Amino acid sequence: MLEEKIFLKSDVEKTMDNYEFLGLKKSLEMKSEDIVKKITDSGLRGRGGAGFPTGKKWEFALAQKNDVKFLICNADEGEPGTFKDRFLLENMPFKVLEGIIIAAYAVKANFGYIYIRGEYSKAIDIFEKTIKEAYHRGLLGKNILGSNFNFELRLIKGAGAYVCGDETSLINSIEGKRGFSRIKPPYPVQRGLYDKPTVVNNVETLTTVAEIMKYEDNIFAKLGTEKSRGTKLVSISGDVKLPGIYEIEFGSGTLKDIIELAGGTKDELNFVVPGGLATSILKYDEINIPYTYEDLENAGSSVGSGGMIVVSQKHDLIDILLNVSDFFVKETCGTCFPCREGNRNIKEILLELKKKGYKEEYKKIIGELREAILLAARCGFGQSSVNFIYSVLDKFFYEEVR
Ligand code: NAI
Repeated sequence: MLEEKIFLKSDVEKTMDNYEFLGLKKSLEMKSEDIVKKITDSGLRGRGGAGFPTGKKWEFALAQKNDVKFLICNADEGEPGTFKDRFLLENMPFKVLEGIIIAAYAVKANFGYIYIRGEYSKAIDIFEKTIKEAYHRGLLGKNILGSNFNFELRLIKGAGAYVCGDETSLINSIEGKRGFSRIKPPYPVQRGLYDKPTVVNNVETLTTVAEIMKYEDNIFAKLGTEKSRGTKLVSISGDVKLPGIYEIEFGSGTLKDIIELAGGTKDELNFVVPGGLATSILKYDEINIPYTYEDLENAGSSVGSGGMIVVSQKHDLIDILLNVSDFFVKETCGTCFPCREGNRNIKEILLELKKKGYKEEYKKIIGELREAILLAARCGFGQSSVNFIYSVLDKFFYEEVR
């Protein structure tokens, strides 16, 4: 039986009085370059969903010689089925804060923001208090813990737009503009907030950084597999008996094992969404694969945000498709025509499917729309908006051959 591997969750429930900020204290004695190297060597990949190597992003940022740089913690967790960042913000805010300060020091940023999803009111309250207390204790502001490092941190509340979880929309939102995405490149590390080099890292990524820096040895690098190092928080929801947050060492078990860890399914399993609605589904007979970036990619899906949704056979597939489609139609920012109109067309096709029954041409048209959106949408929202819908159609729908 697969067991949780506790690395990140090791400090749950501590107060600031007994939280030692060991990772931060060690980091402040090191050169920025050495911290970046340690994170590169750890093999940590971004935990927001894209899995970009964190050390590489920091190397790019450090190489920028601007006087002003920004560090942003992306806590606008909007991906359906994903609630691991909320868990961290509510239960381990000091470690989240510690990761933010370490990252800022490592890339030489003196200003930062944490952008928290507006619906996360408890997390916002907790983090507001955390920031206040941190200023009081000399963990933020000038001359942090007696070092020469200065760092100012502000909290921004999101206003309910899913697309603002995209880093460039989030940057526009902080600047007071509409949450429209920007074309990349230039990447934020080159030109981000107020056109200055900006590192945007996810909450779980930064929390992991704090834990990695606590140890002399790079123990994170020794966990997991060659391409998928360390552990990952998986938020499991849907038709499992014990939904919640589980910390999984990459490669230590299969998707099937993770479902078992969450108590198994309530009814007969139909399919699993491995990493939020941006990822393609895996059918009940495709889940006997190790939980790693490489194995999920080989299976045509992705680790994504770690938001695993387990769906049993008791649900109507067309209703699920319509529900998901409705989400993407409502949440598109509308800037890119193929994303805005393509998602609307997909919903119309699905409504017709519900009324008249399935026709093979529906899958063909939706496949073509998916290609067009993939090519033409500027941000990850559009590019991944059809993955779920297309994969369900592809794996479950076919015209009856008479
Ligand atoms: P991306 O692949 O464009 O970028 C990932 C990160 O790497 C970004 O920070 C980007 O700036 C950086 N990057 C990539 N190439 C770079 C280069 N050559 N130089 C410097 N920096 C570079 O992916 P994106 O659009 O940021 O994220 C998409 C993913 O987000 C989706 O796959 C989905 O899984 C996830 N997502 C997560 C949500 C959540 O609530 N956690 C919500 C929606 C989507």
